[in-house]
Amino acid sequence: MTAAPARRSEGGNEGSIDVAFTPAEEVRPTDVALVVDVLRASSTIVAALDGGFERVLCVGDVEGARRLRTAGRELAGEQGCRPIEGFDYGNSPGELGRAQVAELVLCTTNGTPAVLAAAEAAGEVLITSLLNLDAVVGAVPAGADVTIVCSGTNGRFALEDAYLAGRIVQRLDRSRTDAAVAAAQLAGSYDDPYTPLAQSADAEVLRATGQSEDVRFCARESVFDIVPRVAGMSDGVAVVEKAILQHSPSPMGYEETFA
Ligand code: MLT
Repeated sequence: MTAAPARRSEGGNEGSIDVAFTPAEEVRPTDVALVVDVLRASSTIVAALDGGFERVLCVGDVEGARRLRTAGRELAGEQGCRPIEGFDYGNSPGELGRAQVAELVLCTTNGTPAVLAAAEAAGEVLITSLLNLDAVVGAVPAGADVTIVCSGTNGRFALEDAYLAGRIVQRLDRSRTDAAVAAAQLAGSYDDPYTPLAQSADAEVLRATGQSEDVRFCARESVFDIVPRVAGMSDGVAVVEKAILQHSPSPMGYEETFA
């Protein structure tokens, strides 16, 4: 299968950028995958690492998460946006606070499966939310082919993920596929990040389950200087850690991205 055709970048830069709006879309082999689940898994991963967890273990199913419980781990996740029985936390990024243990096992409906799928296709997988937008954009290596992997909602398009995808496309000067052009256009139609999040079906569920504060929390832009990356896969679990970034002497950002 051939790659989706991409237009040349306006700045003449190397590399392409594509968006997979739903999990049904095949994530083609790519240099860097940016996994997005604004409401809320990617925001929760960023908050967990900022709160002092050394690793987030992304798991695809609840029983798999339960099996990973040990003294040095806590469990977080949701089903239908509600906390899972026996887990220490739900999927609210704001409820994690300071970490008491080293590892957080995270199991969510759409976000953690998207991380696992992306890890199959990409050399480098970074987890992106509005909370760490600047940090991730600055960490993408020059010239790399990038695919933004939207987690979506139960297999369907999610407005908040498409919005963030567009914000990323606007910031990375690369040849754009049609999907990337559409995402940038969509993002450009909003004046602020809160509105597309609040309009989404996922926000509706959060409001209905008494978690509307999470929408405000996740709509904050570039408040954490953290780049979560998949450091490895182990028995179907994606191990996510903070990337160690090396600053470039150039004012354009990071030259050597990962130590
Ligand atoms: C998911 O992975 O499906 C979401 O993060 C759901 C949620 O908002 O908790």
